[in-house]
Amino acid sequence: MKAYSRIIGSGSYLPPRRLSNSDLVAELAGNGVATSDAWIVERTGIRARHFAAADVCSSDLALEAARLALQAAGVLPRDIDLIIVATSTPDMVFPSTACILQNKLGAHGCAAFDVQAVCSGFIYALTVADAMIKTGAAKRALVVGAEVFSRLLDFKDRGTCVLFGDGAGAVVLEASDQPGILASDLHADGKHAAILCVPGQLSGGKALGDPLLRMDGRAVFKLAVGVLDAAARATLAKAGKLACEIDWLIPHQANLRIMHSAASKLGIPMDKVIVTVDQHGNTSAASIPLALDTAIRSGRAKPGQLLMLEGVGGGFTWGAVLLQL
Ligand code: UT7
Repeated sequence: MKAYSRIIGSGSYLPPRRLSNSDLVAELAGNGVATSDAWIVERTGIRARHFAAADVCSSDLALEAARLALQAAGVLPRDIDLIIVATSTPDMVFPSTACILQNKLGAHGCAAFDVQAVCSGFIYALTVADAMIKTGAAKRALVVGAEVFSRLLDFKDRGTCVLFGDGAGAVVLEASDQPGILASDLHADGKHAAILCVPGQLSGGKALGDPLLRMDGRAVFKLAVGVLDAAARATLAKAGKLACEIDWLIPHQANLRIMHSAASKLGIPMDKVIVTVDQHGNTSAASIPLALDTAIRSGRAKPGQLLMLEGVGGGFTWGAVLLQL
């Protein structure tokens, strides 16, 4: 049994339809919804997002990201013995998006399941995969965050519809004697479920309740800032590392102001923070692996460096993973 799991490849994918703030502002004006590029940039840092075509599902985005991750890792789908997909926008009620992805990859027989922890989903999925590898239950895992959040948006609610986008990111995690994932810290508190939710359900062939995203933005903002800091500090303590040793902070990409605050609480300058929210918007479970892959492919995140990934989202869920690349 190996002591660690390590990332040996990453990939990401954005659907081709890109909407700048001005594109979205013009579309929303057609619905009688008033917003502006200036408001969106000032309050969130978002300048653009990508929306998937109507016939494209989370598994399609996941497939593109997974292929790139497998290629970067130099492994074939049949070499994977575990697939975990973090998503809150699955293709179907069941089977899981992970099973659908497995079939599309042509990898049959390995364990495959979804993790539903909304925007913290990738942190949860990575932690579960790491634990399974460390116990010998798996040797090589494909861990994906994939979302089509555009499907859940109420385009009459300007407080939410300008924030989210679609996309996918993936990593291949392998058992290793070399340090990789050093520590992680996961939490949830269901008493905050109502501040960020899609409160609908399927029943008798119909959507019951409200099947669109609802959020108390201010409440989410306030909670997010505190719990991200707590998770990052707990993870550092578990690994016996200091915040000043972190080479790159890769937070969930929801709002640039939250990211500024997370970095400043840890004493990390913004030039050590990977920012993709400006171009991707909030892609929920896909945001961290999208940002991670962007950092790796741009050459900023290098082998041997210390990376802190941290996420927060509906549930309320939050957590962090500290890893050596
Ligand atoms: O993955 C985790 C998910 N979510 C988050 O991390 C979101 C966390 N929260 C936030 O990012 C921020 O709370 C928001 C960006 C959602 C909102 O920013 P805010 O500074 O908290 O604004 P607010 O909700 O307090 O609204 C301020 C004003 C209101 O107008 P009045 O009442 O002051 O006249 C809103 O109606 O801004 C108005 N407003 C808008 N104006 C133009 C809200 N949305 C918009 C909009 N365009 N899109």
